[in-house]
Amino acid sequence: MSGHPEPPGGELLCMQQAQPAQRSTEHRTSPEPSDASWMQLALQLAAHGLGRTTPNPPVGCVLVRNGVAVGQGFHARAGAPHAEVLALREAGLAARGATAYVTLEPCSHFGRTPPCADALIAAGVRRVVIAALDPNPAVAGAGLTSLHKAGLEVCWGVLERDAVRQQAGFRSLMGRGRPWVVYKGAMTLDGKVAATSGASRWVSSGAARALVHRWRNRIDAVAVGSGTVLADDPHLGTRGVAGGRDARPVVFDRCARTPLSARVMRPGSILVTSTASTAAFERRGVTVVRAADETKALEALGQLGLSTVLLEGGPTLAGAFLNADLIDEVRMFIAPKLLGAGLSPLAAPLTTSMTEARPLQNVQVESVGQDTLMCGYLAEIPRLETDAFDAYSAKARSCA
Ligand SMILES: NC(=O)c1ccc[n+]([C@@H]2O[C@H](COP(=O)([O-])OP(=O)(O)OC[C@H]3O[C@@H](n4cnc5c(N)ncnc54)[C@H](OP(=O)(O)O)[C@@H]3O)[C@@H](O)[C@H]2O)c1
Repeated sequence: MSGHPEPPGGELLCMQQAQPAQRSTEHRTSPEPSDASWMQLALQLAAHGLGRTTPNPPVGCVLVRNGVAVGQGFHARAGAPHAEVLALREAGLAARGATAYVTLEPCSHFGRTPPCADALIAAGVRRVVIAALDPNPAVAGAGLTSLHKAGLEVCWGVLERDAVRQQAGFRSLMGRGRPWVVYKGAMTLDGKVAATSGASRWVSSGAARALVHRWRNRIDAVAVGSGTVLADDPHLGTRGVAGGRDARPVVFDRCARTPLSARVMRPGSILVTSTASTAAFERRGVTVVRAADETKALEALGQLGLSTVLLEGGPTLAGAFLNADLIDEVRMFIAPKLLGAGLSPLAAPLTTSMTEARPLQNVQVESVGQDTLMCGYLAEIPRLETDAFDAYSAKARSCA
């Protein structure tokens, strides 16, 4: 796996030391030295589910006995078996006495599948190490409580930051009712995303574009405005990725200016519009979303079960999103080229003051081919563990 980030968190698996969450240690055991590296493997497994599990989170699980992985699993899609169940199936009787590494608190409720906490208990697992607590109110610490009541050792907070980043879409849907938005652009060294003619093919290198295809493979939706469709007729599909699949294309087009013949207008695509004349699009199998503004549009995408959106421009739509405070994460390629004039990445002014410029957090800079990729966060990923932890503490106290 390369070190390039996947949106959100897919391959962004920095070698963080085990960092237990800063909470009460009630019923929680301390991490062991090898916990972080096993959790790293669980996170890598979970990343296979990115873009496929929505509205569920991506989850990975590794069962380890006597220092050997005896079972591995990841949640592949909503309705499919959970990571813990697959790892237990692979381990069989070897699960007895094993340690389970799980990227998200095991569920304790009957959803489409039986509770994973019960399955771990029934299999005789001795210890459970969890990266992040589940923000889902239906779980909210109850998974921990079940495990603890059954006498298992429980430890959580191992590689929690990486897990929370990987689960950004799920947490965003759960906490804000809308998807996590990653804005991606490619600009020249002098800050232009297209020439004055409107031509933007290609600003970035082949290596950068190949990486974008890997991102598309791991995200739920890819969004552009009608201006980009009219200028470039992009397909927005995933190419050159083994086992890859297309994210759902979303076109923001208030007046439905996009021609039906556009490559992006295919069955399963989404048209966000204000116009009533959309019958031809619907006959094509396009889902039509009517929304008063960008926030309502994102909420509607959330209701369609989309948890992550790669916003691929152009400047008018990206500027509108920035002004509405709807960009959560930024991925910008900077190409060693000069245009002198052209389009800026964000068409709408956010501020006239340098002191009010929006700073990115957790910035990472790396080379991709001949380009530089700068990534950072504008928003906090909704965590919600405080509520989950409070619920857990209350239940743990009552059963202690
Ligand atoms: N290098 C890069 O990274 C990159 C990426 C993408 C595009 N581009 C370039 O950017 C240029 C296109 O720029 P653009 O700004 O016209 O493209 P755009 O932002 O993709 O599309 C703009 C259009 O989106 C529609 N829209 C729908 N809902 C909107 C909303 N809530 N807020 C704002 N706009 C909304 C508007 O048309 P209605 O009012 O009719 O709805 C608007 O004119 C092309 O030259 C393209 O090649 C470069």
